[in-house]
Amino acid sequence: MQRCEALARHSELPGGLTRVYLSPENRAANDLVLGWMREAGMDAKLDAIGNCAGRYEGNRPGSPCLMLGSHLDTVRNAGKYDGMLGVVSAIECVASLSSRKIRLPFALEVVGFGDEEGVRFGTTMLGSRALAGSLDSSVLKTKDAKGTSIEHALREFGLQPEQIPAVKRKRGEVLAYAELHIEQGPVLEAEGLPVGVVTAINGFSRLRVTLSGMAGHAGTVPMGLRRDALAAAAECVLAVERVGRSEPELVATVGRLDALPGAINVIPGEVMFTVDVRAPDDGLREDAVSQICARIADIGHTRNLDVQIEHLQSLGVAACAPRLIEQMERAVAAKGFRVRRLPSGAGHDGMALKDLADICMLFVRCKDGISHNPAESITEADAGAGAAVLLEFIEKFRP
Ligand code: GLV
Ligand code: MN
Ligand code: MN
Repeated sequence: MQRCEALARHSELPGGLTRVYLSPENRAANDLVLGWMREAGMDAKLDAIGNCAGRYEGNRPGSPCLMLGSHLDTVRNAGKYDGMLGVVSAIECVASLSSRKIRLPFALEVVGFGDEEGVRFGTTMLGSRALAGSLDSSVLKTKDAKGTSIEHALREFGLQPEQIPAVKRKRGEVLAYAELHIEQGPVLEAEGLPVGVVTAINGFSRLRVTLSGMAGHAGTVPMGLRRDALAAAAECVLAVERVGRSEPELVATVGRLDALPGAINVIPGEVMFTVDVRAPDDGLREDAVSQICARIADIGHTRNLDVQIEHLQSLGVAACAPRLIEQMERAVAAKGFRVRRLPSGAGHDGMALKDLADICMLFVRCKDGISHNPAESITEADAGAGAAVLLEFIEKFRP
């Protein structure tokens, strides 16, 4: 809990927590995490995509590893535990083993992923995709809101993008990936349980839409002659919401909207907004994305606007491996807790890592199911329960 507090102090937002990929705050958090990894007995370094990567050898040096971890970047005005709890819990487990001089029949690697939220560049899981070898180098041209590309930001951070292919791990080098994360939902709290075992992670699609109309004088242009991009965007936001509401398991969100030029007396000529669609079924999500794109195109056509829709990223449903779910369940039961399985509505690095190795996840209860919000909160007892279950899982892990 103290380490989550310490990480939360590295923020660009005074009095709150915002820490995006490859920012100065990201560097300070990395320094803390790499130091904790070394203190816990690991060799630790920053890799070429900006992940903190620590390794604790098994009883035979060079053995394949059980990989643990979570992310170190945050959303804007974030909570202190989303991502960070998984990283510090994994380090704590290694520290426990190394203080007892225990070496396992496999190595342990802990990764603090540099980018999972995708807040800065819109495209997510850069760190885990690099590890899994699924990061196409064209992604590095993606720019942030200030026009800085990922490639340029990596260089400014002191990293060498041409080394990214070397971050890729071979299948077989990683026996499995296990991530502890706060639930970010209300199920465990409602059932009075400190932890839960994840069955699968819902898939997502992310779009960026640009509507271009015509800026003009708010006093002189009659209503019938306007090409108001913001009024059109308002219709689009409601259309996205309607599609999201059309199926119980579907969710769709416009999380960001920028209207230009942004003055009280100017008709907005251009609007950019994002769309995030999620579902536990890939077909359902893909249908929803098609409906949303068709509705936005219609609205643009009716209002005489140019419409540009960029498909930023999609990742399919990631199922946790049944044998790992069972091992995690045994760890939960061994620590005296009732076993509860649940799916994950939020995205996690396992979605990318499943291309490399089987994955599993352990959820820790959070207060009122609140996350992506500064009110995100967990108890010390639950953090302890989560770490204890994770340690039990690690010690009993069988590939
Ligand atoms: C990450 O937290 C996501 O689900 O967007
Ligand atoms: Mn998050
Ligand atoms: Mn997270």
